[in-house]
Amino acid sequence: MIFLLGATGYVGQAFQRELTRRSISFRGISRVELDYTNFRVLLEALKTHRPRLVINAAGFTGRPNVDACEERRGETILGNVALAQTVAQACEVSGIRLGSVSSGCIYNGAKVEEEDGSWSIREDLNASELQKLLQTRSSRIRGFRESDAPNFTFAQNNCSFYSGAKALAEEVLRNFPGMYVWRLRIPFDEQDHARNYLTKIQRYPKVYQNWNSISHLGDFAAACVEIWEGDLPGGCYNIVNPGYVSAREAVTLIQKHLRPGWAPEFWRDDAEFYGTAAKARRSNCLLETEKLLRAGVKMRPLEEALGSALAQWKPAL
Ligand SMILES: NC(=O)c1ccc[n+]([C@@H]2O[C@H](COP(=O)([O-])OP(=O)(O)OC[C@H]3O[C@@H](n4cnc5c(N)ncnc54)[C@H](OP(=O)(O)O)[C@@H]3O)[C@@H](O)[C@H]2O)c1
Repeated sequence: MIFLLGATGYVGQAFQRELTRRSISFRGISRVELDYTNFRVLLEALKTHRPRLVINAAGFTGRPNVDACEERRGETILGNVALAQTVAQACEVSGIRLGSVSSGCIYNGAKVEEEDGSWSIREDLNASELQKLLQTRSSRIRGFRESDAPNFTFAQNNCSFYSGAKALAEEVLRNFPGMYVWRLRIPFDEQDHARNYLTKIQRYPKVYQNWNSISHLGDFAAACVEIWEGDLPGGCYNIVNPGYVSAREAVTLIQKHLRPGWAPEFWRDDAEFYGTAAKARRSNCLLETEKLLRAGVKMRPLEEALGSALAQWKPAL
């Protein structure tokens, strides 16, 4: 049996579907019934029930978006950093493996091969000289690997409070090398939902153009379970669909599959976007999936996953 912490959340529900699909027995756990934020309470439950795995899909993400974390800093630290430590420590003490959901939002930008053959990190993916390289999926652009240090963090003094907290949580989890850290990035799928990237794009008053690696939520949960079932080495895994997409390309796909006449406006530039619609700086980044794919875990190419999500689109009831 698996313990699924945060089973009531958006990501937790995707794990519920995946575990059910695979007939893997699990217990979805909510804080109201078992306060897993309390070390002693969680340790007692782990000792009593001896789950084969603990999935930590809980966390404080801010509603309606990460801007809320700028105001609610205590909860952001407690719900992400302290919780990561509590759960990992309890699992370590009881000798139970942990898979913790993390986020790719601890990076910003991508790696670009310069004219002289060296590689450098470029944070502004909207820079005009990068557009052709990005649009043509040039091999001169690469995402961040798991071995690359996060660059959207408190230490760099350039991040949102949410991203800083997620980066700190990963620092905490590095002290538990046998545990899994599963990085999710901008989830989407076929179900219209306020947290689905494809829904969000359609609901924004204006769309913010940028480039990102993103994760099909069902593919993400399936990959996490495969990593555990395959007994892959502990540590960090970027779990995104190979490839990347711009907001403009996503709009074009939505027009093609769902809304032919739709013509959303775009924010003119960062100044207008941050001056009007967002408080905290947003991470926009590309992530590599080499480690995951080399380990034999399959993720559909992003183009295929996006196309099929839109082709099977299920409007919210
Ligand atoms: N959604 C995304 O875009 C995204 C992207 C990348 C990573 N993630 C990560 O994935 C995890 C789950 O995110 P989610 O989108 O599923 O969030 P969510 O829908 O808000 O659900 C999170 C769940 O965590 C539990 N929880 C525990 N401590 C909490 C606290 N202090 N405040 C609020 N909820 C708390 C709650 O369950 P109970 O109260 O029932 O126990 C809640 O249902 C988080 O670690 C998040 O950082 C999310």
